[in-house]
Amino acid sequence: MNYKDQIQKNRIPRHVAIIMDGNGRWARRQGLARMFGHRQGVKTVHTITEVAAELGIEYLTLYAFSTENWNRPKEEVDALMSLLVDTIAKETPTLMKNNVRLSTIGDITRLPENAQHKFQTCIAETSQNTGLHLVIALSYSARWEIIQATQEIVSAVQRGEILLEDVNEEMLSSYMTTSQMPDPDLLIRTSGELRISNFLLWQLAYSELYFTECLWPEFTEEEFYHAIVDYQHRERRFGKTSEQIR
Ligand code: FPP
Repeated sequence: MNYKDQIQKNRIPRHVAIIMDGNGRWARRQGLARMFGHRQGVKTVHTITEVAAELGIEYLTLYAFSTENWNRPKEEVDALMSLLVDTIAKETPTLMKNNVRLSTIGDITRLPENAQHKFQTCIAETSQNTGLHLVIALSYSARWEIIQATQEIVSAVQRGEILLEDVNEEMLSSYMTTSQMPDPDLLIRTSGELRISNFLLWQLAYSELYFTECLWPEFTEEEFYHAIVDYQHRERRFGKTSEQIR
């Protein structure tokens, strides 16, 4: 039986986060420039977004560009920014067709102006859609996010708007860029690397982790279904015992 048929429709993860890794290696293995891998990676983004919408996943968060990625060679950074801009412009009709709402997390102000503008336009255009919420992490790092949240809380305490003893998990979550969404149920990382790489460190506390050797450009629908089926076989205890869960 294929993985699609094994999916239990009543146990679909609400929020799936993905570290899309391996574009460069995929290209290099074929003697191609790294950008070919990123372009192929966009095709995977298209496929996985459609599948996620079809499965009824509520939130799909994709790590597209980390704070650390700004340190890549300038030509690659520039080419990635152009690819993102072109993709967003080109994919907006598909997002509309699939009732997908787009948003971003990260320090968008570091992006070139045309990229900021394209994203804002697509976010506004898709804002009334009620299906899958597609969240693109751009110029994002979890440590940056935690520092931002800490600074805001400290200054609210200094202004006397909140009391130090009121700072708790719920409050910290409300200061994160993900405040409007549930924590990821499932984190997928492609390309065989076994790291979190500064992604959603606060939010992943109880997420199920799924690592695959598959490189992002070759991550297919069936690979995605495999990850979901694997997730559905996990027992999520959140620190409790098996008996308590059952
Ligand atoms: C990791 O591969 C991938 C990235 C840094 C960029 C991901 C971007 C895309 C898939 C394109 C656009 C995305 C959207 C949401 C439109 P890598 O370069 O680190 O690969 P490597 O580890 O093999 O070098």
